[in-house]
Amino acid sequence: MSKVGIFGAGWVGLVTGACFAELGHQVVVRDVVPAKIEALRRGDVLFHEDGVPELLDAHAGRLTYTLDVADVADCEFLFVCVDTPPTYSGDADLSRVWTVIDELPDLDGRPVLVMKSTVPVGTGEKIRAGLDQRGLEHVGYVSNPEFLAEGTAVRDFMHPDRIAIGAFHADDGDAVARLYEQIDAPIVRSDVNSAEMIKLAANAFLMTRISFINEIANVCEATGADVVKVAEGVGLDHRLGPHFLRAGIGYGGSCFPKDSLALKQLASNSGYHFQLLSAVIEVNELQKRRVIGKLTRHLGSLRGKNVALLGLAFKAGTDDMREAPSIVLASRLLAEGAEVRAWDPVADGGKLPKGVEVVPTVADAVRGADAAVIVTEWEELRGLASPEVRATMANPLIIDGRNLLDPDETRRAGFAYEGVGRPVSPTDVLPQLPEAAPAQEA
Ligand code: UDX
Repeated sequence: MSKVGIFGAGWVGLVTGACFAELGHQVVVRDVVPAKIEALRRGDVLFHEDGVPELLDAHAGRLTYTLDVADVADCEFLFVCVDTPPTYSGDADLSRVWTVIDELPDLDGRPVLVMKSTVPVGTGEKIRAGLDQRGLEHVGYVSNPEFLAEGTAVRDFMHPDRIAIGAFHADDGDAVARLYEQIDAPIVRSDVNSAEMIKLAANAFLMTRISFINEIANVCEATGADVVKVAEGVGLDHRLGPHFLRAGIGYGGSCFPKDSLALKQLASNSGYHFQLLSAVIEVNELQKRRVIGKLTRHLGSLRGKNVALLGLAFKAGTDDMREAPSIVLASRLLAEGAEVRAWDPVADGGKLPKGVEVVPTVADAVRGADAAVIVTEWEELRGLASPEVRATMANPLIIDGRNLLDPDETRRAGFAYEGVGRPVSPTDVLPQLPEAAPAQEA
């Protein structure tokens, strides 16, 4: 078993640390934020991820948390798990990665620095040169990107589809591969640049599928087809597969929006205009806003209309609000003059723009509402089309941004209903309400 140092006690770092401890390795997690380390020492995890608190607790004897970089000096592997947020221009901000390199303690033997953070292609080469400049030629370097999705991260780590390992020296790659010995998964060995690109390309492809099915959904709406059936029929083709074909309100989260911009910028910086990716990003931006068109088609002007936003997190099963479509939607609704009431079972509604009223229950959100919009596919919302909800709404209209409800059942329950890419019933589109008279000039 090996001794593994982890730089960064954030989500990636702790999932990685907890899972390496589960595999039997000794793990030292190092962060620069005292509050994070103190919380971990007390046994508190500052974010929600299924299975992580349990693993940290079960393997407490193999896990230590520290602010002191000297505590990782005897580790055979040093995993970099720090944030690489987008800069204003969309490039990945690598300042935290470079801080780790600058802070490396004196290291003996041949420790291997392993990059888990998502970085632009070419970063490993720059870091290799940086290590050499600092007299750290004896430190190996390996790219080993993470493919963890929120809510299933422990499963994704322990049962991955593949493990990507890119190394400058085969021995360093072999050493990292041995860390995962007990995991049954194909290992893709490559050069460092290619491993970095595998991560960016995999994410870009997943986003492409989402924007693709969202555009098919939009064409379905214009032509009367049902995208849910279309996705089923398309996904059964073994060359295509069923995943990431759920049409909806657009992707969000901590990875896709940031990584797509970073890859687009990386291509542009290298003199290539990545047209397809640019379209994927644009389709996603427009997709978040299509709800507004649906609402106005039913309600006319949204000025003074009450709209309930149901679900705020970027997907179900997480409290993460980063790049959540709910934020764009709330801003657009406020800009249209709507009164917005928002509910989510776990996400912090305080991240929404000022002017949105965040309420504790679905019932509070829909009371008196002219429309209810399903933004996140929470299970709690499956029963939304109930007589109680219908009775309490000012106007029984449901816009389902996730195709969570059954259209026929919802209509039978007395609601006007619009999903994404699903046929609209002629009875659904209510007569336009008269516009408010323009204010008279004094
Ligand atoms: C993603 C990748 O899955 C993971 O491999 C990578 O390391 C980080 O980014 P995550 O952001 O946790 O993980 O969420 P994921 O479940 O992939 O969903 C991303 C977004 O796409 C969500 O907003 C989700 O609602 C949306 N989505 C996903 C769709 O709109 N339709 C789909 O069919 C699938």
